[in-house]
Amino acid sequence: MADTRATAAAPATPVVTRRSDYAPPAWQVPQVALDVALDPLATRVRARLEVVRSGAHDEPLRLDGAGQVPLAVRVDGIAVDDWRIVGGQLVLALPGEAHVIETEVEIAPDRNTQLMGLYASGGILCTQCEAEGFRRITWFPDRPDVLSTYRVRMTADKARFPVLLANGDPVAAGDNADGTHWAEWHDPYPKPSYLFALVAGNLAVNRGTFTTRSGRVVDLGIWVRAADLARTGHALHALQLAMAWDERVYGREYDLDVFNIVAVDDFNFGAMENKGLNIFNSRYILADPDTATDWDYDAIAAVVAHEYFHNWSGNRITCRDWFQLSLKEGFTVYRDQGFSADQGSAAVKRIEDVRGLRAAQFPEDAGPLAHPVRPESYIEIGNFYTATIYNKGAELIRMMATILGPERFRAATDLYFDRFDGTAATCEDFVACMEEAGGVDLTRFRLWYSQAGTPRVSATLDHQPGSGRATLHLAQKVPDTPGQTHKQPQVLPLRLRLFGAETGRPLGDERLVILSDTAASITFETVTERPVVSLNRGFSAPVVIDSDRSAADLAFLARHDDDPFARYEAMQQLMLDTLVAATVEGEADHAAVIAAVADTLDDPTLDRAFVAEAVLLPAESFIGDQLSTVDPEAIFQAREALRRDLGRALDARWRAACDPALRRPFAYTPEDKGIRRLRNVALGYVAASGAADAPALAYAQFEAADNMTDRHGALTTLVGGRSAQRDAALDVFYHRYAGNALVLDKWFQTQALSPLEDTPALVAELAQHPDFTLANPNRARALIGAFGANQRAFHADGGDGYRWLADQLLALDALNPQTAAKLLPPLGRWRRFDPVRADRMRAELARIVATPDISKDLFEQASKSLE
Ligand code: PHE
Ligand code: ZN
Repeated sequence: MADTRATAAAPATPVVTRRSDYAPPAWQVPQVALDVALDPLATRVRARLEVVRSGAHDEPLRLDGAGQVPLAVRVDGIAVDDWRIVGGQLVLALPGEAHVIETEVEIAPDRNTQLMGLYASGGILCTQCEAEGFRRITWFPDRPDVLSTYRVRMTADKARFPVLLANGDPVAAGDNADGTHWAEWHDPYPKPSYLFALVAGNLAVNRGTFTTRSGRVVDLGIWVRAADLARTGHALHALQLAMAWDERVYGREYDLDVFNIVAVDDFNFGAMENKGLNIFNSRYILADPDTATDWDYDAIAAVVAHEYFHNWSGNRITCRDWFQLSLKEGFTVYRDQGFSADQGSAAVKRIEDVRGLRAAQFPEDAGPLAHPVRPESYIEIGNFYTATIYNKGAELIRMMATILGPERFRAATDLYFDRFDGTAATCEDFVACMEEAGGVDLTRFRLWYSQAGTPRVSATLDHQPGSGRATLHLAQKVPDTPGQTHKQPQVLPLRLRLFGAETGRPLGDERLVILSDTAASITFETVTERPVVSLNRGFSAPVVIDSDRSAADLAFLARHDDDPFARYEAMQQLMLDTLVAATVEGEADHAAVIAAVADTLDDPTLDRAFVAEAVLLPAESFIGDQLSTVDPEAIFQAREALRRDLGRALDARWRAACDPALRRPFAYTPEDKGIRRLRNVALGYVAASGAADAPALAYAQFEAADNMTDRHGALTTLVGGRSAQRDAALDVFYHRYAGNALVLDKWFQTQALSPLEDTPALVAELAQHPDFTLANPNRARALIGAFGANQRAFHADGGDGYRWLADQLLALDALNPQTAAKLLPPLGRWRRFDPVRADRMRAELARIVATPDISKDLFEQASKSLE
C-alpha cells in the first residue's frame, strides 16, 4: 500500500491542474450516508457511498483522501483489499454499473492546525470543506461536479458537545447509555462535497424566523458560545433582511425549513456557505456598539448576505470545476454589493468597493500573481480565492448588467437560475444566459474571463469652439501579464457625460459608450460652451483612465458632477495628480486640493459619509501604483505634507466636524454612521496639522466614546503620532478588552498600520507578545497582514521587514499553509521597487522556495512571485 500521508508538502515537481484537462466524472455518487463518532483525538468516520457508473467506460472508481488511511473498504457489504493508493487517490476497480462502497477512517480534529476538514476551534468541532477539505474527512470523489444527497449521523459526548448540527433538516436524535448522544440530519438537495458541514459543541442560540413569500416558515439560528449570545442580534437581523432582499430583487426563495449559522474563532476565510449550515469566522457575526465599529457592522451584514445568497448562486447552482470559481463568487459578490447599496448610500458603497478593488485587485492584476477571472491552471486551488476571482469577477457581472439594463438583466438571471438549477455549471453557461435573455452578443465580452490585466484607457476631448461639437478620442490597451502578451481589446462599457465649464450645466444626457476596439471617437452635439468630460461614471468599467483633464477641470467636476461617484473620482484624481507631482518633484501646489476639499466640506446637500470618503487622500500604496518605481518614503512625506496643509488650512472645519457637541447616543443609522465617519477623518486632519491640542482632543474622544467607531478612530489617530496619550490609550484599550479576541485583533492591527518610523521594531516586538499566536488566522492577519499592507513600514530601509515577514510565513506555513500563502503577496511586488529593495525582496522569496517541506500553497505563491 502506497504512502498516504498528508499532501501538504510541496512535491519536487508540483502537480499542475489545468482547465483544459477537465473530464466529467467517471462515477457519480447519488447518495451518501456518514456515521461520525466524534472525538477530539480519535473521530471515526464511516462512509457509505452509492456509486453509479456514468456513461460507458471501464474506468475504476477514484476516491480522494488526504491525511487519513482507510481502515476498511467494503464493496456491496464485503471487505476487499484489491484497492491501491495512486497519487493520493484510492483506486478501486468495480465490475458492475452500481455498487455500495463503505470506508472507515480515523481522524484527529484536535491536531488539525490547517483548519481544513474536521477541526476544533475553542472546544467546538466544525468542518471546512471548500475547496478540497472533504477528502480530509473521508474518501470521496472530492470535486464539485459530483452531486449527492447526504444523510449524516453524529455521535458525541453529550456534556461536551450538547449541540449537533449538519446540513439540511434534523431527522432524529437520542441519548445513549454511555453518556453520548446522537443526531441525524438529512439534506434533500444534491450537493457537492465542498458544501458538506457538521458542527458539535456547547453552543447557545439566538433564534428567529423568516416566512418566505410562498409561506414557508424558516427557523433561523445563530449559534455561538453562551458568552457571545448578546452580540448576535445584528447578524440575525441582517439575515432576515437578506432573505427578503433576494426574494424581491432576484425572485429567490429559501428552500429548507431551517437555516443555521455557527460562529467559530478560528477560520481561514470570512465565512462558508454550507447548505443550511453556514459556518462563520466570528468576526463576521459578533457585534455590539462597545466592541464593533461601523465598518464591522457593515461587513457583518455584507458577509451574512453573501453566504445566504450563495444558497442560489453557489449551492442550487454550483461550479463544474474550480476554474469556474468566479461563477459563484463573482456573481455572489455582485449580489451582496447590491444588497449593501440598498441598505444605505449606494454611492458610498460604490466608492468603498472601488477603493477596495484598487487596493487589492489592481495590484494583483499588475503583479506576478495576475490571473484571469477564469484561470487556466493552478497548483493549489486555495491560492485562487483572490480579489480577481471575487471582486473583478463581480465587476464583470456588473458590466453585463449595465449592458443589458435592469429588466433584461433580471430576465437573464431568472433564465440562469431556472436552466441550471441542480447542476454544476460554468462561467460560459452564465454568459450564454445573459446573451440569450439579454438579446446581445457577448462574444468579445468573454475576453474579460480569459485575459488578465487591468485595461488602460486614454481619453482626450477635442472641442472646436463655435462648432457646437466635441469629439472624445478613446483608446485602450490591455497590459501584458505573466504568460499573456499581445492581448486583444476588451469590451468596455463607459458611462459618459459632458458638462459646460462656464455654467456647470450638463450638455446633453449621459451616454453609455461601449468601447470594443483599440480606439474609437465619439462625437457630441449641442456643445454650446467649453465642455468638461465626466468619464467612467459609477466606475462602469474596471479600468485605469489616463485623461489630460487639468487640475481646474477636475476641481470643476468635483463640484458640479451629478454622478456622486464621478464627483468623488474627480477629487481623487486631483489629489493623486498633486501627490504624484509632489513625490516626484519633492513639492507641489496644494491650493487646488485645499479649495476642492473646502467646497466639499461646505456643501450641505452632501451626506456626511460621502464627504468623509471624498476628503480622504488616496492610500500610499495607490500612489505607488501610479509611479514607475515606488519610493515609499517620498510618497509618505508627500502625503503627510498635503495632510498637514489640509489640516492647517481647514482647521476650523475639521474641528467643527469632530466637535464633541455633535456626539449623540450610538445609533446604527446611515446618518449617524456618516457623522462618525467624518468625525474620525476630521480628527485625523487635526492631528496631521500638528496642533498641540490634538492628542488631548483625540484622547477625550477615546475616553468619552460610547461606541467602538469613535473609540477606535481616536486610537488610530493617537497611534499615528507620538504623545503620552498614545501610550495611555493603547494601555487602556488593551486592558479594557483583554479576553475579547476580536477587539485585541484591532489592538494589534492598529499598531501594525502605524506610519511611525519605529513600527517595524514594534511589530517584531508584538509578535513576541503573550497574546500573539500564529494558530489563530485573525490574529496572524491582524499583525502580519497589516504590516505587509503598511507601505512605509514594510519597505523601510534595511529590509528587516522583508526578512521578518518571510520568517513569519515559514513559521505559519508549518501550521496553516492556506493562511500563510495568503500573506505572501507584499513580497512579490519587488519589480515595482528600486534595485536594492527588489534584490532583498527576491532574496526572501528565494529563501522561502528553498526551504525544504514547505506547502504547495506557499511554494506556488513564492515561486510564481520570483518569476
Ligand atoms: N466560499 C466562501 C465564500 O466566499 C469562501 C471560503 C473559501 C471559505 C474557502 C472557506 C474556504 O463565501
Ligand atoms: Zn462566496
